[in-house]
Amino acid sequence: MIIKPKFRGFICTTSHPEGCKKNVENQINYVESNEKIKGIKNVLVLGASTGYGLASSIVSAVACDANVLAVSFEREGTEKRTASSGWYNIEALKSLLAEKKSQVLSINGDAFSLEIKEEAIEKIKEYMGKVDLVIYSLAAPKRTNPLTKETLSSCLKTIGEPFSNKTVNFHTGEISNITIPAATEEEIKGTVGVMGGEDWMLWIKALKEAKVLSEGVKTIAYSYIGPEVTYPIYREGTIGKAKEHLEKTAKEITEYLKNIKGQGIISVNKALVTQASSAIPIVPLYVAILYKLMIERGTHEGCIEQIYRLFNGVYGNKNLVKDSEERLKLDDYEMDEELQNEIVHIWEKINTDNINDLSYINLIREEFFKLFGFGVDEVDYNKDINPRIV
Ligand code: NAI
Repeated sequence: MIIKPKFRGFICTTSHPEGCKKNVENQINYVESNEKIKGIKNVLVLGASTGYGLASSIVSAVACDANVLAVSFEREGTEKRTASSGWYNIEALKSLLAEKKSQVLSINGDAFSLEIKEEAIEKIKEYMGKVDLVIYSLAAPKRTNPLTKETLSSCLKTIGEPFSNKTVNFHTGEISNITIPAATEEEIKGTVGVMGGEDWMLWIKALKEAKVLSEGVKTIAYSYIGPEVTYPIYREGTIGKAKEHLEKTAKEITEYLKNIKGQGIISVNKALVTQASSAIPIVPLYVAILYKLMIERGTHEGCIEQIYRLFNGVYGNKNLVKDSEERLKLDDYEMDEELQNEIVHIWEKINTDNINDLSYINLIREEFFKLFGFGVDEVDYNKDINPRIV
């Protein structure tokens, strides 16, 4: 099959196995060019196949030489249809690291279900004994509560009054005005149920009860705060309520794990192009301006650089900034005051005519394609390949 990108709305429905493999290889190479991080032997990564979770799996396996159990929910390929990019990423990671010290095991299924929790516990008992680190990096549109069987949906809406602002179609570079409707109570509850900390706590309880958490275990979930321009859609919107819940859960987890000296940690990460963030209105325009300013200043980081810095801070005793809520501030370069003032200034005057001068919108489009393995250097996109394997 010759694989080209195909779209439905803003979603890319095809992925390229060789492009995905090269992306994973590039991330491995980045980590290999940095110093090793000591202190972790076995890691469970929930949401391990793309974005921040994939980077967490790679840093664990390559920088820490840890065994990784990677849980994700991805689509396998068939003769006629490509797999999802996350499926190729995980298969690529396993094959690229096959000769290394660490072992990467994977589970493909719904992490919110009891069955996948049980399967993970069985695998940990068989191959790892106990885990020292649990990464919670799920980004999902739906969750069926395993206890009540109620299916909840998350949405990206504002809270209170509808909110209008600029947004960009990053495929065309066209800027328009968008009005985000206010969420109902039901929609807020649904988003908190899916993207909040409820299932994180269920995982930690299941793992502790099964006695597969090491003494001193850490568990890290990823959050976002961002600048005022995105507050109505992010931090003060439905997703922000979910993040507040996730952050509150971190403290509850620390309390729950007290007798084994465990800790729930929140890392506030930087805004980046991932499948999850591309779906949020307004944010891609902010990210296009952000990338330009951060690249020009030499402070830009991708998922792998962010997660390497996070792990090196937590385990390598390299200083990380913390806020008054004890959250780790991996967004410190993004939230630099001078940089943010410049974004506000650019935001006021950016339009369809000057977008290429004032932002890196073309780079955002390229980064989006790369998430699916397209536009990656050294890949021959005219080659006939089998979509079932990487
Ligand atoms: P992503 O879309 O790249 O990754 C989501 C992961 O969740 C994938 O591995 C997917 O397979 C997995 N997943 C989804 N539903 C699942 C299910 N039911 N069972 C098992 N696995 C499932 O997302 P991204 O952007 O890496 O987000 C991860 C976390 O980082 C989220 O909490 C997000 O809010 C947070 N974050 C993201 C930022 C960004 O700019 N992308 C910034 C700061 C935080």
